[in-house]
Amino acid sequence: MTEIRTPRLLLRRWNDDDLVPLSEINADPEVMRWIGDGSVRDLDDSAGDIERWEEEWDDEGFGLFAVELLASGELIGAVGLTVPGGLPEFSHEVEITWRLGRPFWGQGYASEAAHATLEFALQDRGLDRVIAINRAGNDESENVIRKLGMVADRDTTHPEYGHLLQVHSIDLTEYDA
Ligand SMILES: CC(C)(COP(=O)(O)OP(=O)(O)OC[C@H]1O[C@@H](n2cnc3c(N)ncnc32)[C@H](O)[C@@H]1OP(=O)(O)O)[C@@H](O)C(=O)NCCC(=O)NCCS
Repeated sequence: MTEIRTPRLLLRRWNDDDLVPLSEINADPEVMRWIGDGSVRDLDDSAGDIERWEEEWDDEGFGLFAVELLASGELIGAVGLTVPGGLPEFSHEVEITWRLGRPFWGQGYASEAAHATLEFALQDRGLDRVIAINRAGNDESENVIRKLGMVADRDTTHPEYGHLLQVHSIDLTEYDA
């Protein structure tokens, strides 16, 4: 069982109890604004997310963690690693990504989970490079990327939605965990 504890968070695999809290996060237009085509996701979509992320854990040995507050046991969102979907240009890369419920923004939780995820990628999974793909204008996400020490790699255009994507990367052999 893959679990990571940080000072305030538990990063773990997904279970059935996560469906309702995840679907509440996915139903918030402000959370979903910069993700995919910006649509909110309903209960069925959220069940599909959990299924897909769990399959990735089984197939790849990494995936998006369910992120829980140690103090309360609440699910606050999803942070972790994935092979970018729908972007053939990046099918050989591993991306770090994050999505927290709005009540949990601005408290350093995304960065805390992301640092633990990079350490997991390097020390546990032995990956040597991780990218982050950010839609231009998503300043909160870019702030997390910057704090992780990731550097600008290249810009590209989403093949389906046409929006500008800014790609950052980090060489994990140089990552100061
Ligand atoms: C992107 C997202 C995860 C960023 O979350 P966040 O809470 O802003 O990010 P952080 O964890 O870095 O916390 C930010 C702020 O918390 C504050 N903070 C409060 N308490 C803190 C603590 N104990 N430790 C660290 N920071 C703390 C800091 O001021 C920090 O801002 P700063 O870096 O400017 O100083 C969040 O906005 C989100 O879920 N957005 C919707 C989904 C999305 O767009 N995902 C990306 C595309 S896939």
